[in-house]
Amino acid sequence: MWQNEPMRTATEFSKLKQAAKRHGTPLYVYDERIVTERYRELAAVISYPNLEIHFAVKANSNPRLLKLLKRLGADAETVSPGEIRLAKRAGFTSKQIAFTCANASAADLDAVIRAGGTVNADSLYQLEYFAKRLPKRRPLGVRINQGIAGGHHKHVMTGGPDSKFGIDPSQVRDAKRIAAKYGRKIDGVHQHIGSNVLDPPLFAKAMRALLGTARQFDELDYVDFGGGFGIPYRPGEPRLDIPKLGKLIDQTMADFVNEAGYQPRLAFEPGRYLVAEAGTLVVSVTDYKITPHKTFVGVDSGFNQLLRPAMYGSYHHIENASNPRGRAQKVTVAGNVCESGDVFAKDRPLAAPRIGDLLAIRTAGAYGETMASTYNARPLPKVAVIT
Ligand code: LLP
Repeated sequence: MWQNEPMRTATEFSKLKQAAKRHGTPLYVYDERIVTERYRELAAVISYPNLEIHFAVKANSNPRLLKLLKRLGADAETVSPGEIRLAKRAGFTSKQIAFTCANASAADLDAVIRAGGTVNADSLYQLEYFAKRLPKRRPLGVRINQGIAGGHHKHVMTGGPDSKFGIDPSQVRDAKRIAAKYGRKIDGVHQHIGSNVLDPPLFAKAMRALLGTARQFDELDYVDFGGGFGIPYRPGEPRLDIPKLGKLIDQTMADFVNEAGYQPRLAFEPGRYLVAEAGTLVVSVTDYKITPHKTFVGVDSGFNQLLRPAMYGSYHHIENASNPRGRAQKVTVAGNVCESGDVFAKDRPLAAPRIGDLLAIRTAGAYGETMASTYNARPLPKVAVIT
C-alpha cells in the first residue's frame, strides 16, 4: 500500500488529531507500524546471507524510532560524533555503528576512534589518520567515488567529478600503500551515489562499478553500497520496485562471489526508505488571505521545520485532516518564516481549509525534523510517536 494514498482511513486522521490535541502543533507524528513494514519489506527482498542494514541516522534520529530499528535488526550509519552518541543512547553497540564523513575535524576523527565501530575513510588524508591510530581489530574501509550519481536533486547526488565525497578509483593503489605503511589492510569499500533513487538498474550499475574496484583489493571483509532507496512523494507515483531491486542485488553479489571466490559482508545504508512515509508534519491553519492573484493558506510552521520544499523544491502531499471531505480549493500553503520562499505547496488543491484546521504534510519522516532549525527564534517542532 502506498502510505500517502488519499483514501487514508478516518482512524489515521483521528490519531493525528488526538496527537495534535495532546501536544499542540506544529508536530511531527511518526507511525512505528510503517517503519516496521518498510524495514521487513526491504530485508525480505535481499537473500544474500551476510546482509546488514545500517539505518542512516541523519534521516531521523528520534530515539523511539532508533530503538525500534535496532529491535528490528538494523545497525546504524552515522556522520558525526553527535549521531554516534544518539545511536549509542538508543542501544546500538559500537560494533553496530559505522561512520563516514567528508571533511571531519581532527576532534571528530579522534571522537570516532574513541567511540568504536566501523570507519569508512572519505579521503586519503582520513585514511592515513585512521590507519595510524585505529586499533587493528577495528574495521577500516574507504569510500570510493565511482563517478555514478543518482537522486532527486543535484544537492543530493554524491557521485561524479563535482562531488566532494570519496577517493577516485585511480587512487586505490595509494590507499593500499597507506594502509600497508601502518601494517594493516583495507577491510571494506563504501559508496553512496545519492538520495531518493527510484531506478533499480542504476543501483546495480553502481554496485558493479564498486565491486570492480573491490577486485583490486585482497579479500575484503565488507562492501557497503550506501543508501538512496527512493520513495513516492506524489499520489500515484510508482514505488521503487524493491522485489526487482532485491533480485538485482542478489544477482550482482552472486556474480562477484563467483568471480572473487569469497563472500564479503554486504551493507546498505537506507535512511529515507525506512522512515519518510512514517512521518507527518501536522500544522494548524493560522491565516487565510485572498489576493487578486492567489489564495494563501498560512500555517504555524515553516521551512525552519520542514526545509525540503524550500531547499530542493520537493513535493510533500498535504491533506486537510480536519475537513477531509471539504470542497477542493486551489491554494498556496505558506509558513510563518519571514521569507517569501517559505512555501510548502504552490497552487495546490486542498479540501476547504478553515482557520484552526489541522493540515497533514505527508512523507515528512526523513530529513524533516533532523533538518529543522530555530531560524526566526522559533522553537523546534514537537514530536509524537504513534503505533
Ligand atoms: N549513507 C550516506 C553516506 C549518506 O550520505 C546518506 C545520505 C545515506 C546513507 C542515506 O541516504 P538515503 O537512504 O536517506 O537516501 N536532505 C536530503 C537528503 C540528503 C541525503 C544525504 N546523505 C533530502 O531531504 O532529500
